[in-house]
Amino acid sequence: MLPLHDHPGMTVFSKLLYGSCYVKAYDWVKVESSSGFPTFGLGGKVLDGIMSAPCETSVLFPRSGGNIHSFTALAPCAILDVLTPPYSEDLGRPSTYFMEFPIPSLPGYAMLEERDLPDDLVVEGAPYLGPPIEADHDHHC
Ligand SMILES: [Fe+2]
Repeated sequence: MLPLHDHPGMTVFSKLLYGSCYVKAYDWVKVESSSGFPTFGLGGKVLDGIMSAPCETSVLFPRSGGNIHSFTALAPCAILDVLTPPYSEDLGRPSTYFMEFPIPSLPGYAMLEERDLPDDLVVEGAPYLGPPIEADHDHHC
């Protein structure tokens, strides 16, 4: 399981390469964030369902499309994400994990509260060794 996490200020294209997983996704309705305090706020659920390959590439945006999401594998699976811009602690785009507290009287909404990286979650980085990625900055269409 990849626990609930966000993509601040980012656009993310996701492609389930194989397998199937359960996806839950929220967008902030109201978020409280100030330095020194954990981020918390009200999230509105925009996705709650099963994704099975083959399926279309999905996209989320900074304020819509389910910017805060979790994946639970239902079968061995792999998801290829293209993030732009990338996570950056220095530029105010950290990766934050959340706990969710459903609101019984408000179906489809939950309070989301920042949490530490779960102890049983292992995140490994690796250099990109594929073909060079070229961006044509002069081309606007
Ligand atoms: Fe994600």
